[in-house]
Amino acid sequence: MNHFNYINNQLHAEQVALSEIAKSYGTPTYVYSKATIERHYHAFNTPFADYPHRICYSVKANSNIAVLQQLKRLGAGFDIVSLGEFHRVIKAGGKPEDIVFSGLAKTTEELTVTLDAGISCFNLESENELHRLQTVAEKLGKTATISIRINPDVDAKTHHHITTGKKQNKFGIDIETAKRLYKEARKMPFIEIAGVDYHIGSQITTLEPITKAVDTAIELIQELKESGIQIKHLDVGGGLGIPYKDEVPPHPTEYVNSIVERVKPYNLEIILEPGRCIIGNAGVLITKVEYLKKGEMKNFAVIDAGMNDYIRPSLYDAWQNIIEVNNNTDAEKFECDVVGPICESSDVLGKERTLKVNEGDLLALTSVGAYGFSMSSNYNTRPKPAEVLVDGDKVHLIRRRETYEDMIGPENLLD
Ligand code: LLP
Repeated sequence: MNHFNYINNQLHAEQVALSEIAKSYGTPTYVYSKATIERHYHAFNTPFADYPHRICYSVKANSNIAVLQQLKRLGAGFDIVSLGEFHRVIKAGGKPEDIVFSGLAKTTEELTVTLDAGISCFNLESENELHRLQTVAEKLGKTATISIRINPDVDAKTHHHITTGKKQNKFGIDIETAKRLYKEARKMPFIEIAGVDYHIGSQITTLEPITKAVDTAIELIQELKESGIQIKHLDVGGGLGIPYKDEVPPHPTEYVNSIVERVKPYNLEIILEPGRCIIGNAGVLITKVEYLKKGEMKNFAVIDAGMNDYIRPSLYDAWQNIIEVNNNTDAEKFECDVVGPICESSDVLGKERTLKVNEGDLLALTSVGAYGFSMSSNYNTRPKPAEVLVDGDKVHLIRRRETYEDMIGPENLLD
């Protein structure tokens, strides 16, 4: 069931009209649907039935603490990539033992704080990181549980900026080196080997690269077993895509089944790190049309949300649906590019659209719950938008709009 629908020609999130949210909280504002997040979590969780697994939501996709809190309540763990994300998870009620730590630049401070707190696994990205972690663990007198992020060299067939599992990418460790490192790690007194990990890319829309990567990992796990190294879990990362336009990605059930059926004979716990698929289609961005501008070559709908609020179209040429919040208007059709206020020609949120809007009307960018607010910035000294979460007929303000003081306050004048 879709939780963003028109009711009496007004776009709603669950039972709340987006126009009411705009009235109360202004624009631009991110709006999330609680029921959608819950549905997506279950879509991943249910197909596992009683097969051992953990769903470690990838915090970077949307790191608002209320979103994390909801996911924790549903039973999720978390995949983090920084100490900042660690603090968010803890504040949201997550436990260190619910956390796996990914990312290729973990500092000594990050390793120390999170190991001391007792996180469940470090997904290691390099030989030097393994050595650094052993040193940190020895100093603390605590054992660090690890997996090695392998680079399975499969093409995720997605945008080149978000593919991560090819040889030329900075992520992961090639299989031959990984074998050597597992053997080294086994001898380290403060390191405990638990898993094999990878993440091959994001917005993946076919099963083939997914199953290929599983097969590669299983082959490695079998080889390790023969040399006496027992792997307990396989962490397959995130990456399952969502429909933005006409993509037809595999359903989470199909995705989970294709992994479970391969892994089952080897009795490994499965860890997933989904981000986009949980929160992407659970969020919209409400924005107001400031100006309709007629140009010589093109028309423009100038809106109050820009690449500072939502950068994916500028960064990846991503296509986002942009729809009228009120679909019963006498406005004339306007063929235009939808552009933001930022002083950059790439600040285009939608190219060649047809809209029925007047100045002052509201639009919604849909499917922007993932990598939306979490990638926003203050470029052009524009405050970050508000975020609200709708639960049935209730609206929770989960992040107030930034103030000018929030932006300028941390700065100092010269003496
Ligand atoms: N695990 C690891 C280690 C990751 O690096 C990522 C995402 C995920 C899990 C979650 O992937 P997802 O399920 O969300 O695809 N900003 C880009 C996406 C970058 C993804 C980075 N890593 C975008 O807006 O398309």
